[in-house]
Amino acid sequence: MSEEQERQYRQEDSKVEVSGFEAKYYDTLMNLITLGWYPSFIRRAIDDLELKPGQRVLDLGAGTGRNALLMHERIAPGGEIVALEIGEEMKAQFVKKTREYPEIRLEERRIDEPLPYKEEFDTVFISFVLHGFVQERRETILTNAWRALKPGGRFAILDYNNFDLDTAPAWIRFAVRRVECPLAEDFIRRDTRQMLSAHGFGNFRQHGYFRGYLRLLTAEKLF
Ligand SMILES: C[S@@+](CC[C@H](N)C(=O)[O-])C[C@H]1O[C@@H](n2cnc3c(N)ncnc32)[C@H](O)[C@@H]1O
Repeated sequence: MSEEQERQYRQEDSKVEVSGFEAKYYDTLMNLITLGWYPSFIRRAIDDLELKPGQRVLDLGAGTGRNALLMHERIAPGGEIVALEIGEEMKAQFVKKTREYPEIRLEERRIDEPLPYKEEFDTVFISFVLHGFVQERRETILTNAWRALKPGGRFAILDYNNFDLDTAPAWIRFAVRRVECPLAEDFIRRDTRQMLSAHGFGNFRQHGYFRGYLRLLTAEKLF
């Protein structure tokens, strides 16, 4: 990517810090926008994480708690989920949804600033969040994930796949360029595996969804 192209993306253009009406009704809106497809999709993607009872998971930009509850079904008994979130409406829903489960803990922390965790988690999960940052902040998030993982732990990114947006069907181009966060286009054009390799991750595994435009990419902390 040329410097010229890189310069046009600014964090202020991001829509990743969801608030107001969109945050309050986030789960319902996702179900409606996807014509009811979202609940089965997210259940399948979380199945594909292959979490095991007793594991510790760090969920970056956790949202309403829908994902945490699904992950909890897999890591119980004995596991723990630490969820990081900053949105007021998101935090309120998260607390309400997960209050029966002491193994799910919410912490108010920015994921794009250095985090305090070191070799504590089996899995770091980030779902539809990474695309919403400028590249420099994405690199900080990758560093945070690497440090937080135990050796051999897995970083799991559920987000857009990398593809040629210019040759994608018109409805995909419309969704990405008109509906999505402007930073999503930058994310889609980059090579996420290359980015992860540069941060000490490897042994990639990938699951594609929605005709391959979305994917779960998991990568192991190598050293
Ligand atoms: C598109 S939503 C995805 C939520 C959830 N991961 C999911 O898949 O349903 C993005 C989430 O990231 C949170 N977020 C955005 N920027 C963040 C930051 N710097 N630190 C922590 N959370 C952040 C937002 O508040 C929002 O809940």
